[in-house]
Amino acid sequence: MITPTLPAGPAGPPEVSVPAPVTAPAALPAAVPGAGQAWWRNAVIYQVYVRSFQDSDGDGIGDLAGVRERLGYLRRLGVDGVWLNPFYVSPQHDHGYDIADHCAVDPVYGDLAEFDALVQECRLLGLKLVVDTVPNHCSSQHPWFRAALAAGPGSPERARFHFADGRGPGGSLPPNNWRAMFGGPAWSRVTESDGRQGQWYLHLFTPEQPDLNWRHPAVAEEFDRVLRFWLDRGVDGFRIDVAAGLFKHPELPDSPDPDADERTRDSVNPLAWNQPEVHAVWRAWRAVCEEYTAKDGRDRLLVGEASVPTPAEQAKYVRPDELHQAFFFHLLHAPWDLDHFRTVIAGALEDIAATGSTVTWVLNNHDQVRTVTRFAGGDPVLGPARAAAAALLMLALPGAAYLYQGEELGLPEVTDLPDELITDPIFHRTRSRVGIRDGCRIPLPWSGGRPPFGFSPEGATAQPWLPQPEHFAAHTAERVLADTGSFWHLYRDALQLRRSLPQFGEAAVRWLESPPGVLAFARGEGFVCAVNFGDGPAPAPVAAAPLLASGPCPPGVLPAATAAWWIHRP
Ligand code: NOJ
Ligand code: MG
Repeated sequence: MITPTLPAGPAGPPEVSVPAPVTAPAALPAAVPGAGQAWWRNAVIYQVYVRSFQDSDGDGIGDLAGVRERLGYLRRLGVDGVWLNPFYVSPQHDHGYDIADHCAVDPVYGDLAEFDALVQECRLLGLKLVVDTVPNHCSSQHPWFRAALAAGPGSPERARFHFADGRGPGGSLPPNNWRAMFGGPAWSRVTESDGRQGQWYLHLFTPEQPDLNWRHPAVAEEFDRVLRFWLDRGVDGFRIDVAAGLFKHPELPDSPDPDADERTRDSVNPLAWNQPEVHAVWRAWRAVCEEYTAKDGRDRLLVGEASVPTPAEQAKYVRPDELHQAFFFHLLHAPWDLDHFRTVIAGALEDIAATGSTVTWVLNNHDQVRTVTRFAGGDPVLGPARAAAAALLMLALPGAAYLYQGEELGLPEVTDLPDELITDPIFHRTRSRVGIRDGCRIPLPWSGGRPPFGFSPEGATAQPWLPQPEHFAAHTAERVLADTGSFWHLYRDALQLRRSLPQFGEAAVRWLESPPGVLAFARGEGFVCAVNFGDGPAPAPVAAAPLLASGPCPPGVLPAATAAWWIHRP
């Protein structure tokens, strides 16, 4: 074991100041013993936003056959598995998070035969396949919702949603004051079959995404069928959209802070989210997974998008008989700040340890500004350096990590899309660019010097569904593979070391004393990771040359905006 006070070694260059210990070393609890070693515990999963990954048929939209073409690339990168964003039949008002048929592939993305081929190929390559599931709401084009509209007030068809009469004269006001996450009221009024303005229905997102009523038994039955449908086709697990949603307060009362959800774009209305009844659903889904595991010995994964107010609340979602994991989003929202990173990492490790689950780290996804841009503070050099350092930090931590397509290419956010090309319903409902997501969903650049950069095949009939900027030429997979100093090689090397170093797996984090601006920790025997959040170089915690660093890192020095891994030989 290494001792917690490491900064010894040869003196760094003259500009390096002597370290002043700022943090007391603290041991964190190890994972619960006996919790098993299922593949997902420390897996690195690559998130494929299907629409923007690879277009195989030239219509400018990524598709399942395109994903299959690129599985070798993902295998070379070294991830353990793939999570596919929704590819189900959908009118695409929220790019697939508005599902009209949960058990069919949208023709724009392929068909079930193509999906089966993808499952087969993932199996051959040893990649796990996780699919998205969206139980909180469906599409307004879903047959259930169409039937509900046709059947009228008081019908059993309407009981599967939240229909209610309006308030005020003629029922012209929504049944309560809740606001939708993507702007506007959380209720829309329907025109009844006689042509009159009628009841209202609840939608926590867009009007095209009516919320299902989970107090109705048919809803749970339907999702049991959906899970089994995809499990029977061979998937390894599900990412669960809005996992703290589903149940609403039974009386649907007014919210004391009606604008909270819309203001924060987070699930904070305590009457609409995180109702205790939801845990029974996750216990039932876990039982379905266990049933399949009992049949074939393959561990399945339920990973929830559970945005809840406190880590303690989040821990409830990953109790041993509920979800296996829940995304820990605090790094996704973290500014480039040492104290912030350390606090959220320590908190996550501590809170999750008692549950037997592992932390599920995320720095990027399809809903957030990419780290290269988010951490830049307006500086085009600092952004990539900090993003690379943050990635190396995340990949050094115990638990699972999710990578979002393009982060291995060092892609920045595209922030200058013209208004008329923006597709995000947030923009159209709020007329604001705050929080819009098209900029992280630009089709990937694979090769060549001009759009579509190999995203669509030669002779494609359509342009990519969102335009790729010219500067994506510097980020093509072709370019980064040829450049050993690129993000791609950093990720690939980190993933390879994660798999092979004995210090990884379940070994706990031990914080190390470190100079100002530096976050440092050890794991297992001799593994050390340090990140310099400061503006100038700092002494490295280990004198030897690092095993891996996110940028140039001479022995004994940890430059600004750099992370590195060492094996410390006492
Ligand atoms: C969370 C998903 O990540 C996001 O993309 C989607 O718009 C909402 N849930 C609604 O389904
Ligand atoms: Mg296509």
